[in-house]
Amino acid sequence: MSNIDLKIHPSGQFDNSAKDYKHITAVPLAAAMGAEIQGVQISELTDDSFAEIEDALFRHKMIYFRDQEMDHTDQENFTRRFGEFGTDAYTKGVDNHPDIQPVLKEADARTHMIFGGSWHTDSPFLEKPPAISMLRAVEPPPYGGDTMWANGALAYSFLSDKMKEVLAPLKVHMSAGNVLDHVRQHAQERDPRKLGSMDIKVDADVMIDGSFHPIVRTHPVTGEKALYVEESYSMGIEGMTDYEAAPLIKFLRDHITQAAFTCRLRWAKNTLTMWDNRLCLHHAFNDHDGFRREMYRTTVLGEVPQ
Ligand code: SIN
Repeated sequence: MSNIDLKIHPSGQFDNSAKDYKHITAVPLAAAMGAEIQGVQISELTDDSFAEIEDALFRHKMIYFRDQEMDHTDQENFTRRFGEFGTDAYTKGVDNHPDIQPVLKEADARTHMIFGGSWHTDSPFLEKPPAISMLRAVEPPPYGGDTMWANGALAYSFLSDKMKEVLAPLKVHMSAGNVLDHVRQHAQERDPRKLGSMDIKVDADVMIDGSFHPIVRTHPVTGEKALYVEESYSMGIEGMTDYEAAPLIKFLRDHITQAAFTCRLRWAKNTLTMWDNRLCLHHAFNDHDGFRREMYRTTVLGEVPQ
């Protein structure tokens, strides 16, 4: 048996190459995932460009657009092209735009915790977690405040057939229990200037009870399979004791988030990013004290994970 502490850098199954689209240009970001989409202004999108953007999103898992002159209404309209707005548990939106979720940290805020500051998929404790999330940078810091993503489909493809068999029938318990405990423990920081814009909207008991979802998810459009397990909300496995589930969850989290399966984006003003929340994880960083970071998020309602 090989030394289990030795992490072998995976090789051989990466294909994040771009398709030859007619209405957009996709420029891959990393070997594992991600692509910049060029040649479109989202506020003036045609149906043909939209169809290619959706295809590129499902292929690259995370896509981004630079230099987008957009306001909240443009972001709402673009989001609605993909479906209904998703439920956001953490914010009540901004004035007159309840589905535009502010993600804000002021320059003078000092906090141990920021919104999205660990590996997660958005709101998996819900029965129908968001299918797609979008984030628009209005005032990014000059450096720091990057976001990382991890490709759960690629990570799944690198598991052995035997591990895939073990995982196939398992359901992961997704609960906001740990996250809400953290928020409560630091309740003195509930001032939105300090804790970003966190202002819990969904009944906390519903978030804590959470949902049991397949630990290997199948994409409803492409049929691709992906690991659906992460750091923030994956609390257990149905039918297993915590003692049994914890090492398996730890292995899967470590596996999916290894550097080879990730990409990282440096934000600029007017960058819009979107990701397929079913097949990838993401992670924000609390590394820009002294610099304001102002972003706006929207989500698209998903299905019950299968
Ligand atoms: C999120 O978790 O949706 C926010 C990510 C970020 O602020 O970079």
